[in-house]
Order: sequence, then C-alpha cells, then structure tokens
Amino acid sequence: MDVATLLNELPPPVPQDGRALMARFSFGAEHARRRAIVVDELARIDVREAVQLARERTLALAKGRVDVMATIARAVPVGVLDTLLGEPHAGATAEGRANRAGILLQARDATAGLIGNALIDDAQTVRNTRRMRDGEEIVVDLAGLPFGAGARACPGRELALAIADAVLDVLRTGRVVSTEVEYEDWPNLRIPARLEVDFA
Ligand code: HEM
Repeated sequence: MDVATLLNELPPPVPQDGRALMARFSFGAEHARRRAIVVDELARIDVREAVQLARERTLALAKGRVDVMATIARAVPVGVLDTLLGEPHAGATAEGRANRAGILLQARDATAGLIGNALIDDAQTVRNTRRMRDGEEIVVDLAGLPFGAGARACPGRELALAIADAVLDVLRTGRVVSTEVEYEDWPNLRIPARLEVDFA
C-alpha cells in the first residue's frame, strides 16, 4: 500500500477522551459525517477577513523583543479561528461541539510549527501520523505529504497557509535573535520551542 492509501484505508488510533468524536480520530461513515461538520464550519470563514485579523493581532503583539512561539505562533491563528467561527454552526450536539473544538486543536500546534519553521528553515512540520493495522499502532511517514492525503487530507490547508503568511509578513519585519534553536518534544511534529525576534 502506498502512503496515501494507508492514510485513507486504515483507521487512526482513537484517544480515550472527547477527541474520539472528532473527525481526525474517526473512521468510515462517522469520519465522513464529522469531517462534513468541520468543512462546513471552515467554509463560514472568509479567508481575507482571517488574513486581516491575523495581521492586526500580530502587529499588536510584535513589539520589542518577543518569543514568537510563546506569544504569537499559537495565539494568533487559534484566536482568529475562534473569533471567526463564533458559535458552533452544527448546534450544541456533542459531535458539533467536539468538531468545532477539533478545528482549534488541529490548527494550534501545526500552524505554530509552520510559522516557526518558515521563519528559520522551512522544515516539514507534521512529520508523521498514526494508524491502526491488525490491532497495532503504526507510524505513517508524511514525507512529501505535509498536509496528508485524500479524503483525510487537511481541510484547513488554505486557511492555515493564508494565516501563516499574514503572521509571517509581520514577523519578517523583525530580526530573529535566537541562534541555537531547540525543538519541542513531539513524536510527530517539528516545532521550535523558542524563537526570539527583535522588533525594536
Ligand atoms: C487553520 C489551521 C488548520 C486547521 C483548521 C486544520 C484542520 C485539520 C483537521 C480538522 C484535520 C482532520 C481531517 C480528517 O481527519 O479528515 C486535519 C488533518 C491534517 N492536518 Fe490540518 N489543520 C490546520 C493546519 C495544519 C497545518 C499548518 C498542517 C501542516 C503543517 C496540517 C497538517 C495536517 C495533516 C498532515 C493532517 C492529516 C493527519 C492524518 O491523516 O493523520 N494542518 N487538519
């Protein structure tokens, strides 16, 4: 099986918490239904409005010397999505709420990684993901597929890239001060732990 087939034919491991209701951790008909909720929620966001808000909020935070990973890279994308999504469109069902929360969860670290890595070297942020095969968890390498593939590919790709670009436009007016970059301790994500930028 090639990687795209693996990603789509095998179920993901299911966490034992509210995340089990999220599209990302579902399979088959449930995945399709929950993904439709996510796609519907995301379709309500006007990308130009997201870009403008991301720019304004980044400008407000980019003052003096800041660790952009701690103050901007997560806070701005998640805050913009949260503001623009408003109340869950799918209503107050547990599934609707879980998938609205799932949008923020999926966006948070991946978009922060995208922003941080782009500022320093462009490394692929999401390096692998997991699936279940014959009752065993397997690691699927995402080299060359930074946003996954097929019916499970990232539905936030366009929005994530637009928001990251808007944030980066402002961050690039500063000077990266950090020289030795350390990475957060994730099995699947490459995210700079700190990135000091001087906007003085
Ligand atoms: C606006 C920001 C983002 C949102 C709202 C978002 C949302 C999502 C959602 C809901 C899924 C689950 C889709 C499904 O299972 O059908 C997903 C999957 C995925 N996303 Fe994103 N995402 C965002 C940013 C990113 C970024 C920046 C990256 C990469 C740098 C990324 C990489 C991926 C990958 C690789 C998958 C597939 C995971 C798998 O198949 O196991 N996402 N995303």
